[in-house]
Amino acid sequence: MLGFWRTHAARRDHVQGAGPLAHRLRRLSLLDRLDEAHAFLKLFAHAQGGTRSSFQKRWAEVRRALIKDGHYDHTPEELAYGAKVAWRNHARCIGRLYWDSLIVRDRRHVTDPAAIFGDLCDHLEQATGDGRIRSIISVYPPVRPGVRPTYIESPQLVRYAGYLAKDGHVIGDRKAIEATRIAHSLGWAQPEQPGPFDILPVMLRDGDERRHLFELPAGAVREVPISHPDHPALAELGLRWYAVPVVSDMILTIGGIEYPCAPFNGFYMCTEIGSRNLADRGRYNLLPEIARSFGLYAGPSDALWQDTTLTEINRAVLHSFKAAGVSMIDHHGASDQFMQFHARESAAGRRLSADWAWLVPPQASSACEVFHLDMEDLHTVPNFYRSRASDGARLMPHNGNKDRSRLSKAIDDVRRWARLRHPHA
Ligand code: ARG
Repeated sequence: MLGFWRTHAARRDHVQGAGPLAHRLRRLSLLDRLDEAHAFLKLFAHAQGGTRSSFQKRWAEVRRALIKDGHYDHTPEELAYGAKVAWRNHARCIGRLYWDSLIVRDRRHVTDPAAIFGDLCDHLEQATGDGRIRSIISVYPPVRPGVRPTYIESPQLVRYAGYLAKDGHVIGDRKAIEATRIAHSLGWAQPEQPGPFDILPVMLRDGDERRHLFELPAGAVREVPISHPDHPALAELGLRWYAVPVVSDMILTIGGIEYPCAPFNGFYMCTEIGSRNLADRGRYNLLPEIARSFGLYAGPSDALWQDTTLTEINRAVLHSFKAAGVSMIDHHGASDQFMQFHARESAAGRRLSADWAWLVPPQASSACEVFHLDMEDLHTVPNFYRSRASDGARLMPHNGNKDRSRLSKAIDDVRRWARLRHPHA
């Protein structure tokens, strides 16, 4: 087995720069890696209350491994802490108050696409539980020099299909039309009668970028039918949504090591489904239909019909999840929690990284306290990102680190500037 991997690794060395994953990964020089590893190990040692000498010993070990192999292995404790801090640092998440209670499944020994998929089903089951959703991350093997591991191409484990008919009519999720087409072309037997809520197979890519499709077993996906407490006609539209969002296409970066297969879940905030997934024109585009079912569409004379409809569909989503016993938070609650997180982070002496456009709920925005908060994205690592071409471009270890000398900060900046200007250098 080992021999197999060795020859494979050798063969892959020269294809390191090719393929979709290679284009998404941050390009880190050895110096960058050392830099990030050092900063992370220091942070970890500090959080553990470890001694200076234990840190020095670990750092010497890691530095040696990085210089020799371009890689080091996190201990299970470092991995768990790194994943939690990546969440804490992620500027686009409003729900970070409980970052420290993230459950980290260390699955670095699971390598084969089929085995990973089987394990993902376990993740989904554990996260769903009896409806009281647990926040979990599963971490599969990291990238090593010359070897790229299997990763998940699907943006979430559970997604609904989208079908574009010849006449331009769409059934299902518009955002999933391309993924549905690809799944179909790879042999996915879509339901004979395409429906608006057909669950797509999960798409994985192995180290050679070959695609593998897997169908989630019947019963693995908990779904919630949407009804409104006062408008029974809504239930007749047959709307539903899945209980657990498992984001599966982000790269977890910890101490200079990249984990491209590290799916994680939290639970839903009602606006994600009510104001966006069901309502966006590029998604289900259901506002007119829902307004009609509520009897809320009074024609062009009512300029605010969308506002009223959005509020009511959010009421319906909240009501339905509550009735089903599935965890969900409303945007006011989420905003309050975030303010608490903000206060706790300040008390801990940390600067908070936050992205206004992502954090402010799309509903009753200015009534939520987060709307009035000054925010800055510090692009701190550990973190999660999708691609070095977008959100990964500016991730850096020392931003916001008050202990760093001005000279070191200036040198960092020059180096980063050079890297940004010549991303392929
Ligand atoms: N916005 C995404 C969706 O509607 C889910 C992103 C993660 N959300 C969460 N609450 N953890 O499916």
